Amino acid sequence: MARNPFTPNFGQVPRVLAGRDQLIDEIVSAFDNAPGDPSLTSILIGARGTGKTALLSLLANEAESKGWLAVNVPCVGGMLEEIFQGTVKASSHLICQSDETKLTGLTIGQLIGLEWEAKPSEKPTWFLRMSALLDELDRRDVGLLITVDEVRPSLEEMGLLASYYQLFVRDERKVALLMAGLPSEVSLLLNDKSASFLRRASQYHIGDIGDADAELVLERTAEEGEKAFTPDALGRVVEACGGFPYLIQLMGYRSWQAAGNSSTIDVESAERGISRARSDFETRVLKATLDELSDKDLEFLCAMAQDRDESRTSEIAKRMGQSTGYVSQYRRRLLEQGVIASQGRGKVTFALPFLKEYLKEYLGD
Ligand SMILES: Nc1ncnc2c1ncn2[C@@H]1O[C@H](COP(=O)(O)OP(=O)(O)O)[C@@H](O)[C@H]1O
Ligand SMILES: [Mg+2]
Repeated sequence: MARNPFTPNFGQVPRVLAGRDQLIDEIVSAFDNAPGDPSLTSILIGARGTGKTALLSLLANEAESKGWLAVNVPCVGGMLEEIFQGTVKASSHLICQSDETKLTGLTIGQLIGLEWEAKPSEKPTWFLRMSALLDELDRRDVGLLITVDEVRPSLEEMGLLASYYQLFVRDERKVALLMAGLPSEVSLLLNDKSASFLRRASQYHIGDIGDADAELVLERTAEEGEKAFTPDALGRVVEACGGFPYLIQLMGYRSWQAAGNSSTIDVESAERGISRARSDFETRVLKATLDELSDKDLEFLCAMAQDRDESRTSEIAKRMGQSTGYVSQYRRRLLEQGVIASQGRGKVTFALPFLKEYLKEYLGD
């Protein structure tokens, strides 16, 4: 029997990825047009579960299939060294093979070390080591893609990377930098002086994928698992997941599972799948998210839940009996954690599906 083909895990590249064609086309063709293509420096911006990490992985694979090297790092301390070591590792095979006389048996790290042998006490800087490595890659016309996931403006190394990368771009090296992050983190990053170069990066906002694409994902993925939705069942699941990529996978997974040995996913299986997926989502994502919040954060969310759609910060402050300035610290923290999203002009909404509904149940317990 076929295995369940859905991928309800964060960071997993889905078997069928839909709704991102333009972004993928633009970035993949940028690899062919390097250097100089504006999409070589891009930021993917979106809420949790929209598919940023999956896209970074997919794009890294695409780059590799075009003969580039790809190094993927999360935005954490030690990131720069991770990038250097990752590039050494990815290129060692390439470089050892093609330059037999000098390089056989030596790692590029050692080679670069040799260049500074005259002054053994001074370790070459990250920038010099990386430049030497890029020289080797340039000689072989190999590009380097760096992906940085979950960007955090507070990490000093992020600003450093931006500055060094800017120098690589200025020198017309064949490099690309793709980043991904939550909207609030990205906007802080772009406002930070140390990373001002990144303001010129191409910005891709990724959100829900729309019903037609969700339908495509569900149908084609189920097919890979040798099952087919009935039209009614498909309609139910499409409606329930609201185009939210993570839920598409979760609801697809549970519906496929609920169909058991049958090759058809009917309405009954779909309904069981949807409700099972809802409770998975509540415990794995929503409860986990709310558990991390303070009482005041929760109070802020409760004040928001009274509105049908968007909420105004000034109104929330009134409901909490506090000043707008006082509640803005909770607003900021909730934005940073991806729990709420800014709609501009002091307005906010819930950033995760079903969060508003689940909040009552959570606090009732
Ligand atoms: N375009 C897409 N179509 C279908 N499923 C997707 C798509 N993008 C992401 N997914 C699925 O959605 C889930 C969340 O993706 P992930 O990349 O972890 O999101 P993020 O990094 O934005 O939190 C994963 O299960 C992934 O397989
Ligand atoms: Mg992610």
